[in-house]
Amino acid sequence: MTASLERAHREFADRNPQSRLSYVRARTVLPGGHTRTVLSHAPFPLTFVSGEGARLTDADGHTYIDLLGDYSAGLLGHSEGRVLDAVARALRVNMSVGGIHPAEADLAVLMCDRFHLDRVRFTNSGTEANLMAITTARIATGRSTIIAIDGGYHGGVLSYAHGPSPTNAPYPVALATFNDIDATVELIERHANDLAAVIVEPMLGSGGCLPAFPAYIQQLFAAARRVGAVCIADEVMTSRHGPSGLLHLFDAEADITTYGKYIGGGFSFGAFGGRAALLDLFDTSPSSDRPASIGHAGTFNNNIATMTAGCSVLGEVFTADVATAHTARGDEFRNTVAACLARHSLPISVTGYGSMLALHAVARPPTTMAEADRRDHHLQELIFFGLLGRGIYTAPRGMITVGLAHTDDDLAAAIDAIDDCLAELESRGA
Ligand SMILES: Cc1ncc(COP(=O)(O)O)c(C=O)c1O
Repeated sequence: MTASLERAHREFADRNPQSRLSYVRARTVLPGGHTRTVLSHAPFPLTFVSGEGARLTDADGHTYIDLLGDYSAGLLGHSEGRVLDAVARALRVNMSVGGIHPAEADLAVLMCDRFHLDRVRFTNSGTEANLMAITTARIATGRSTIIAIDGGYHGGVLSYAHGPSPTNAPYPVALATFNDIDATVELIERHANDLAAVIVEPMLGSGGCLPAFPAYIQQLFAAARRVGAVCIADEVMTSRHGPSGLLHLFDAEADITTYGKYIGGGFSFGAFGGRAALLDLFDTSPSSDRPASIGHAGTFNNNIATMTAGCSVLGEVFTADVATAHTARGDEFRNTVAACLARHSLPISVTGYGSMLALHAVARPPTTMAEADRRDHHLQELIFFGLLGRGIYTAPRGMITVGLAHTDDDLAAAIDAIDDCLAELESRGA
């Protein structure tokens, strides 16, 4: 570890004694002190005790501009009043029901209209949505193999960040190189006879906010369709872009698309939707002329809090017009970050789309996971701690999301902090 990084860890530990105590206590009962691996970092993560709007406050009383936005799930900011009021009203009337209630179909209508889906089904997380989408494709095609992207992430059991994870669901999976269409088409053709589905994020989110070339997605889906495979787009993070998600902005169409994160307004959420011919495999209605339908169970799939929050999010807070304007605002912020980086001589670049971006400690903006992996890990960490020390909370891996609660002053303060942090790192010869 460099001396600079050692000092950053020491200063962080000195500044955050209550967070350290909270971490020590948690570790006695939670392996690593958490149940969400991405939150773990050296020397220990902060413990947050409250949030309001675009601000987070930690156990030692420091307040940060929250530029992480819960890895995109916190798009609305903390405790958005309209969502809170809607959920509180709904829960006073009915909290847990083993039956149908109106908000479930209300949210389904909003989602089908917004994202151009024939049908949709709800789950509890993005992971489950992707598992169900893959399962649907495997049953519909009678095939078993999946092609995913090297660097793709579709949940804790569908993770391909650096090759398949040992925790992955046991599907036969072949990995394609992101943004390399020739190699990807060749891979699809090699697996033609047993290929059930391809699954892709229009922009690698966990993989570092690396947008696909639109032509890559279009040609990937065309090649998959030629061999009879189902095209799955994972828009768990990227459905926030434009009026109907990033895939539509890329002029591509999936057979099944998956959703999650911000749509639940802070409650656990996932959904998969798309073509009627595939989704109607779940149709159990007595009038259905299908010989058999697939089951899809889940006690909390239609829970009242999430369904109500989702209606408020899509119906009144993050409408298609708001989403369009927010995407443009995010692009503008990323361009300002890029201009700031250009004023410095450090090997740091920025990638992203709309309101999701990432700082990479590599000189040129990466377009594949392999390029992003060439980052200077120490420099990446120094940026994280440098921003924290200046009151800006981001992800250790460099991820940033612009949320609805950020004011122009918040974003200007973030740029000033990046500028100041890089100037200090330069002066120290980092
Ligand atoms: C693109 C993508 N898909 C799926 C998931 C999994 O969603 P969840 O954490 O809700 O299971 C994530 C989570 O970060 C994600 O970024």
